[in-house]
Amino acid sequence: MGVVDWGVRHFHGFGLSTHRGTTYNAYLIVDEQTALVDTVGSPFSEELVENIRAVTDPTQIDYVIANHAEPDHSGALPAILQLCPQATVVVSKQGAKSIPGHYHQPWKWQTVGTGDKIRLGRRELMFVEAPMLHWPDSMFTYLTEDHILMPNDAFGQHYATAFRFNDQVNQEELYEEALKYYANILTPYSEQVIKKIDEILKLNLPVAMIAPSHGVIWRENPLQIVQKYRTWALQEPLPRAVILYDTMWQATRKMAQAIGAGLAAEGVEHKIFDMAQADRNDVIAEIFQSGAVIIGSSTLNNGLLPTITPILEDCRGLRFKNKIGAAFGSYGWSGEAVAHIEGYFQQAGIPLAAESVRAKWQPDSPDLERCRTLGQKMGQALQQQKPK
Ligand code: FEO
Repeated sequence: MGVVDWGVRHFHGFGLSTHRGTTYNAYLIVDEQTALVDTVGSPFSEELVENIRAVTDPTQIDYVIANHAEPDHSGALPAILQLCPQATVVVSKQGAKSIPGHYHQPWKWQTVGTGDKIRLGRRELMFVEAPMLHWPDSMFTYLTEDHILMPNDAFGQHYATAFRFNDQVNQEELYEEALKYYANILTPYSEQVIKKIDEILKLNLPVAMIAPSHGVIWRENPLQIVQKYRTWALQEPLPRAVILYDTMWQATRKMAQAIGAGLAAEGVEHKIFDMAQADRNDVIAEIFQSGAVIIGSSTLNNGLLPTITPILEDCRGLRFKNKIGAAFGSYGWSGEAVAHIEGYFQQAGIPLAAESVRAKWQPDSPDLERCRTLGQKMGQALQQQKPK
């Protein structure tokens, strides 16, 4: 019942880039009783109502399942409940706080926990709480008979497409978006991801489709994305490196390239990003797929260049596992940028695996040789890295 948002390019304010748009998926189950699973963002409320109207009378909805309070899925609740004020809004225990906290409405509520069921007729809805995947309130809804798992944000992708199913879209784009979504949103909750997947697999529920709240529905080999999440959640170290930097007058850029040459000398694949040009969320997806992250900045006003701080904040917040780090940068007189980067690495739990390099003004040959050595040391450390 949901909508395809071809136009959106930023999500969560400026928090997440969505180069390929997104979808807000909502599902309607028509049995003896009718249930709507999730809604859409409030700007799309009318479109949702029209979609429902094409199938059934929206005033006759009995249950609205609100798996998660974030307004891209709950935003149309007021419009829907205005049409069917008798409907019961079904929420997880944490959702019983967050959803009324967003809407402050006297709706009819029902709180459910893992294993609770609601019979609609021939089919039942079964609920599985999934706290921190990715909010405390997150919940999965499973539809018996048709064997459809509706896990809300989990297994989703910000990917607007003409068709609704995984076998109908470009696989490379699909996995690029699924990985970017995981890396940027779910990385800090990787331990919960593993536990939740194991818990659900133990239930031995048949799964014919996995129908998330963003992107395509997994109907061809639906468990492929579950297996992929399990692999991603392990965050095993990969022998690749990301070098990212910003530069005022090319000095720090030259250092980045010398570090890259050192990595290449060790046969280590790497990518270099100028953060004044690169998309932060794309770079996070690259960091996610790399064992080493090497960050450089010129010193400006005793600190970092302003494009570097956000990605360092992301590294701290996303709590990547099994990474090693290194810092570098040029300066004119005070030169604190490198120490700031080292401090962020420490807070992010990313150990330094090579001595940082600072270069005064433009790097000379010995400075560039130290950068090359840094790259080589990182390359050697990567090849010895084992998962923790
Ligand atoms: Fe798609 Fe957490 O909202």
